[in-house]
Amino acid sequence: MPQNRKLLVTSALPYANGPIHIGHLVEYIQTDVWVRYQRLRGHSCTYVCADDTHGTPIMLKAEQEGVTPEALIGRVGQEHARDFADFAISFDYFGSTHCPENEKLAQDVYERSRRGGHITTRVVEQAFDPVKNLFLPDRFIKGTCPRCHSPDQYGDSCEVCGATYAPADLENPVSALSGVTPITKSSEHHFFRLADFASSLRAFTEAGSLQPEAANKLREWLDTGLTDWDISRDAPYFGFSIPGAPDKFFYVWLDAPIGYIATLWRLLNIRTGRALSLEQARAAWGEYEIHHFIGKDILYFHALFWPAMLEAAGLARPRAIHVHGFLTVNGKKMSKSRGTFITAREYLEHLPAEYLRYYLAAKLGSHIEDIDLNFDDFRARINADLVGKLVNIASRCAQLLTRFADGRLADQLPDMPLFHEFIAAGNAIGEHYERREYSRAVKLIMELADRANRYVDEARPWEMGRDPQKRMALRGICTQALNLFRILMAYLQPILPVTAARVATWLCAIDLTFESVHAPLVGHTIAPYEHLMRRIEDKDLAWIGAPANGASQARPKVAQAAAEEQAPAATTPASPTIGIADFSRVDLRVAAVVDAQLVEEADKLLRLTLDLGDGRPRIVFAGIRRAYDPQTLIGRHVICVANLAPRKMRFGVSEGMVLAAGDGQDIFLLGADAGARPGMQVR
Ligand code: MSP
Ligand code: ZN
Repeated sequence: MPQNRKLLVTSALPYANGPIHIGHLVEYIQTDVWVRYQRLRGHSCTYVCADDTHGTPIMLKAEQEGVTPEALIGRVGQEHARDFADFAISFDYFGSTHCPENEKLAQDVYERSRRGGHITTRVVEQAFDPVKNLFLPDRFIKGTCPRCHSPDQYGDSCEVCGATYAPADLENPVSALSGVTPITKSSEHHFFRLADFASSLRAFTEAGSLQPEAANKLREWLDTGLTDWDISRDAPYFGFSIPGAPDKFFYVWLDAPIGYIATLWRLLNIRTGRALSLEQARAAWGEYEIHHFIGKDILYFHALFWPAMLEAAGLARPRAIHVHGFLTVNGKKMSKSRGTFITAREYLEHLPAEYLRYYLAAKLGSHIEDIDLNFDDFRARINADLVGKLVNIASRCAQLLTRFADGRLADQLPDMPLFHEFIAAGNAIGEHYERREYSRAVKLIMELADRANRYVDEARPWEMGRDPQKRMALRGICTQALNLFRILMAYLQPILPVTAARVATWLCAIDLTFESVHAPLVGHTIAPYEHLMRRIEDKDLAWIGAPANGASQARPKVAQAAAEEQAPAATTPASPTIGIADFSRVDLRVAAVVDAQLVEEADKLLRLTLDLGDGRPRIVFAGIRRAYDPQTLIGRHVICVANLAPRKMRFGVSEGMVLAAGDGQDIFLLGADAGARPGMQVR
């Protein structure tokens, strides 16, 4: 490997029509660990990503929510950026494919392809919804399966018998949007002549840029023969228009990967403080060693279309494409009805981000295998490895050191050979990171943690505190153990960056790298030990497996109604009967939480700023502080009593009330399923 690499790393651009979920996180965590490792070794490593914002589903979702597509992607972009930040994903820039730079680049790539003779047009027939005035993607046509005759199946495949077919084969096809029978309509489409690039794609396949499994897949595709790729869509479509073709737009998958370049371009604008030209952006792209991380479902787009487009446009190809498998939860595909479709935000409401980073890293290798998140295994692993082995070294020795030796480290280590053993292991661990064999890196690190614990167990420093004669020995043993711990934290830094930073501060070892730990940490006083990680208990996992009703807040935390400690909710006697007129006097509305703050001197209250869709933010004081961290509430939808008389409180006026179940710490805010808009009436 060259001494100083100039790397550009990307993760796939998440669609802007839904939340980040724990399946996505496999990819962003896998990439981030690699990026952090490269930076730790002193390489320049730029990591960019963006929301993938175009296409029919996003257009329709915005319509459903009664907002413009721009407003929808703006909001989702913020939510995504926040989720990634909370999982410590260290993007240098997180952008959006809906930006002027991307439009310029997409048109440039298209123009160059056209001039090179790689674009053709031809008329195609397609299903069309005459009510919505829209050509229908296969997913938006439903009907009866032609094979097993199950009703209500999608236009491309049957979920009951697994058959795949064309939408035209469905019995009684209807548009999923309007319910009417689609008509067939023809229109001219633009195509990218993929076959023009067959021989260079074959060369790319053999160039060592892909894992063996991915290269095999590609060979299969190349052997079957490449067909023209349909890159245009008719209006109405949310995307970029095709120059010289009125009412035609680029298919989202054309401008999505180009978004990698556009995002780099925007980052470089910020870094240089200038607006780079298209030519400069194109040149900059060529200066990097480019690595794409993607999931197995989008290999075709990245390993065939993308290199071909780059070549047509005279742009550099990636050095490597790293493909990972899919995440399953408790052995099955993530599913809303099984309650295993877990969003990033929902996970964070219950568990620390680094636990997932560690667990996934401990399972990730360089192959395209699916990986399973089994929550029993998750708990066992975190408790055994992180709490039982790793943190255990630090917590017991640091506390002894503080208590019996003023927290001052010895001036030298009693066991230098053991220290050197730990340092020497860094090479192999580093190699595993480089090759994305994180599970092997973790295994080596945990073997060292076992070794460090054995050292402490054998030296028995806890027996020495009472005897002043032995205090020097105690100090030496604890110093040795803390040094071993520090080396392990340096090795784990790509996976546990937040904890590693805390440990560095605590030990007064500012810099925690593979190299800096070569010099033992001796002679100074460390800060008193602060708790680093907690065990996962049953109750931390009780929320999993309860079917979510779409929105995270709708998942009842008490689905383990079994949890005997909890009194059944139905014990409060029902109130007397009222008529519908009484009920309708209460004006219930969906509200978005715009801001949430602690209230000084009120340990039960949060001060919420709510948007009820009328452009007039309202302040509501809610007694939910014990159950919710204010930061996690921002952006959520709640249900608000909108016509409650304002009430003057010590801290200000409360202009309404939010609905929640339970009391004390067992409070569960009510929400609305995805798609509800602020101001909607609840009846
Ligand atoms: N927008 C496209 C990518 C465009 S890249 C120019 C897309 N978006 S996605 O939101 O569906 O997925 C983003 C990434 O997350 C993809 O690489 C995808 O493979 C990955 N994953 C989505 N669900 C996943 C799992 N359940 N498990 C592992 N990875 C998953 O595709
Ligand atoms: Zn079927």
